[in-house]
Amino acid sequence: MAAAATELICDSGALEDGGVGVRFVIDHASGEKTRGFAIRYRGRIHAFQNACRHVPVELDLIDGHFFGANREFLVCSMHGALYAPDTGLCVAGPCKGASLVHLAAEERDGQVYVTA
Ligand code: FES
Repeated sequence: MAAAATELICDSGALEDGGVGVRFVIDHASGEKTRGFAIRYRGRIHAFQNACRHVPVELDLIDGHFFGANREFLVCSMHGALYAPDTGLCVAGPCKGASLVHLAAEERDGQVYVTA
């Protein structure tokens, strides 16, 4: 496992509540990469690895579009698994009960940082 790295992902204003997320790649000193995304839900920032728990594909078919139409769940574009935006728990779909890999996210001085 790669040593943790913290990176600036985006400005806070880039993440609208329930809106388009920001994709990112964190490069580790070991050469490994963590591909993830950050979203805002009910005012708070959350970040996850961008890999469905059913098949490890990226959730978004269109870059950054993780929320479903009702803005209450993250939706995998492949087979429609629904994930809770705050915990990453799959609540419906082929991987129900599994969770996205949560990454530590922090808002500081108007910017969003993620540690992976
Ligand atoms: S790959 Fe995500 S639900 Fe099947």
